[in-house]
Amino acid sequence: METLTVDQRMEALLNELSLEEKIQLLTGRDFWTTWPMEKIGLRRILVSDGPTGVRGEAWDERQPSVNFPSATAISSTWDPAMADRLGAASAVEARRKGVDVVLGPTINLHRSPLGGRHFEAFSEDPVLTAELAAAYVNGVQRNGVGATPKHYVANDSETDRFTVDVQVDERPLRELYLLAFEKAVVESRAWLVMSAYNSINGTTATENDLLETPLNSEWGFDGVVISDWTAVRSVDAAKASQDLVMPGPDGPWGGALVAAVQAGEIPEASIDRKVLRILQLAARVGALEGFEPVQAEPVDKEDLVAFTREASAAGTVMVKNDGVLPLDRAATGPLAVIGHNAKHSRTQGGGSATVLPEKVVSPLDGIRAAFGSDNITYSIGAIVQEGVAELPLDQLTNPVTGEPGLRVTFLDGAGAELFAEDRRSTALVWFGGDAPVRDSSTVRLHTIYTPDETGTVRLGAATVGKTRLYVNDVLVHEGNIEVEGKDIAESFLAPPSSTTEIAVEAGVPLDVRVDLDTAERSGPLDNALSVTLGTEPADADPEMLITEAAKAARKADVAVVVVGTNARVESEGYDRTTLDLPGLQDRLVHAVAAANPRTIVIVNAGSPVIMPWRHEVAAILIGYFGGQEFGNALTDILTGAVEPGGRLPTTWPATQGSVPVLNTTPDADGKLRYDEGIHIGYRAWLKTGATPAYEFGYGLGYTTWTLDTVDGPDGPLTPGEAIPVSVTLTNKGERSGKQVVQVYAEKKDSAVERPVRWLIASTPVWAQPGETVTATLEVPTRLLAYWNNGWTYEPGEYTLRIGTSVSELPITRVVRLTQPEH
Ligand code: BGC
Repeated sequence: METLTVDQRMEALLNELSLEEKIQLLTGRDFWTTWPMEKIGLRRILVSDGPTGVRGEAWDERQPSVNFPSATAISSTWDPAMADRLGAASAVEARRKGVDVVLGPTINLHRSPLGGRHFEAFSEDPVLTAELAAAYVNGVQRNGVGATPKHYVANDSETDRFTVDVQVDERPLRELYLLAFEKAVVESRAWLVMSAYNSINGTTATENDLLETPLNSEWGFDGVVISDWTAVRSVDAAKASQDLVMPGPDGPWGGALVAAVQAGEIPEASIDRKVLRILQLAARVGALEGFEPVQAEPVDKEDLVAFTREASAAGTVMVKNDGVLPLDRAATGPLAVIGHNAKHSRTQGGGSATVLPEKVVSPLDGIRAAFGSDNITYSIGAIVQEGVAELPLDQLTNPVTGEPGLRVTFLDGAGAELFAEDRRSTALVWFGGDAPVRDSSTVRLHTIYTPDETGTVRLGAATVGKTRLYVNDVLVHEGNIEVEGKDIAESFLAPPSSTTEIAVEAGVPLDVRVDLDTAERSGPLDNALSVTLGTEPADADPEMLITEAAKAARKADVAVVVVGTNARVESEGYDRTTLDLPGLQDRLVHAVAAANPRTIVIVNAGSPVIMPWRHEVAAILIGYFGGQEFGNALTDILTGAVEPGGRLPTTWPATQGSVPVLNTTPDADGKLRYDEGIHIGYRAWLKTGATPAYEFGYGLGYTTWTLDTVDGPDGPLTPGEAIPVSVTLTNKGERSGKQVVQVYAEKKDSAVERPVRWLIASTPVWAQPGETVTATLEVPTRLLAYWNNGWTYEPGEYTLRIGTSVSELPITRVVRLTQPEH
């Protein structure tokens, strides 16, 4: 009997489908799944955000996920093995939650530090981003789960993200913005790519020719182009190489696409190509009967909480240390821990990337555990929170079950109960799942709240729409929160709040109920809802908070100040407007540093902030959004149990005014011009000659190093060949440590415009005290080429500069590239 090839069997399945069935498969069934089709043995495919952690099908604290450190922390490790492990860990989480596809990595570039999703992307440098992206994809897919590099392409900021038309030349597009996608597709064979919301040079991403060239035609992509959520606007996207529309079940394809095919406007063959790609993805993830999945069960097993702690420490960047660190636990006197974020730290950025961890270790928790509570004071110092924060679970009793938490009911127009659930968090999001949001008229949150302090609190809700707040059955507040013209993600995931002052007494329970009107909602997200019941920061005298913190610092041996951003500052759907820390945190640090010379600052932000006090403090650690083990990881570094392993993957400016590429706001015609061309990040800093606070690639460890020798190629190099470079360095200190070897290229007297210097390779190395190690790198000559209607090799001499940051490059080596063969 003749055996059919895999392709022939797929074709046979395709032939069983009517045109209508094929087209049904091209739009999602709901928020997170594709359509099953029993007659061909196809089950649904479940996709989930990502990218650092996997939320799963429901946004629900009762099904928690591991909260890994944000992408900026991972990229600060400069360690592809760490990105691979993050990918693998995400795949393990995905499989635990029945998820087939992780919607990540986010591999857009840090073009401007204002970018709202900066925390979610890796770097300002394309080569470092590409290394990490490819490693992450390998880690995910090795474990049988699909990875989705996103957002293709030039979605490097959030302002007007649905409509912005990015004007970018072919050369920066190829050399910068497409480079990481290229590596993730060509080398790691990503099973999906997500098309972006924005336009590129006049055409929206989901209709753009870039989906065909270079993605398919040059790079040989054989996966599924999945749209960003609601990014497909018309059937025109079906003419382009867009394969799958998300979310469903509605959308612009369906009947309109059937009609377009029947009218001969779109060939059925192009529909078939899309369906075959979806079937192939289904086969890969084990969603198609009769086809072997790539990997049925995850193969990588490690303790994910331990991994999170390790990764967070490995990604923490120490940018200053006058010798105060590490702290000798036995010799350290009283510690003053200061800062809102010390207690309420941010462990992840906001928006669709959010996951719900079971437990978070704050810096205060971590420091208390390591140094003993008796030795520690805590002062808030400055308020960072904006809007309401959820009520603490240990102060809540569900009025129905008597357990910690609250009861949520969905009521119809007549007040009859449609659905009820018992929740353990007052920050609630329904985005997919079973709750009948669309059919309800009122959603009610009901709890017994027993505050632990006496005073006044500002109680209320953050959501969109009309709310009524009842305390002990008395209507105390009516809110009507409207958000016209804002990005859907902003109004949905970081909505404004409406609160009122309530006098409370410690230990005296209050019956608290919020009714939210849901009858009049419409639009693509009418089945989704987000509401947080909670408190806004109480009015406090800001001067007094700073004075108290400084007083505590003065009495202490060491002051540890945790500064940072809040959920309204760094999130999806909008960009930052300033790089300054929110609130009075800068004043706080000045005051604490003046009170105690042994002041250590920890920065809890996903992206660069201005640090005007950096010359006044003894040490600075950039901890990013460090994931759920943030506090333990920081403490490991403070005590010296672990080396701060990070180096900056992005330049940190000294002032906002000196940032060479800053603007993320489109002009009056909706265009955002990437006029800087190939000069973003450190390339732009080098071009303007401005000095940042801390440069690209920079970071300190607890030991010292010498760079001894570099061996490079002896003879001339032929284009296409790899350049072998081996670097020998010695750990001269008394502790084991990590260093990141960086290789940059320069081309003097080039026939074309070039960056002053650009990264072509890097690798982390570890060594014991006194040990000499050799790092071997293979640099593709492609990274010396430039794009001019094709990769173009310029013959002649290139200077390789080797060192430990973009401006600390003690060793030079000249290589010669020969004329390309024709
Ligand atoms: C984001 C994507 C995300 C998707 C699904 C979009 O708004 O841009 O990154 O994967 O939502 O949540």
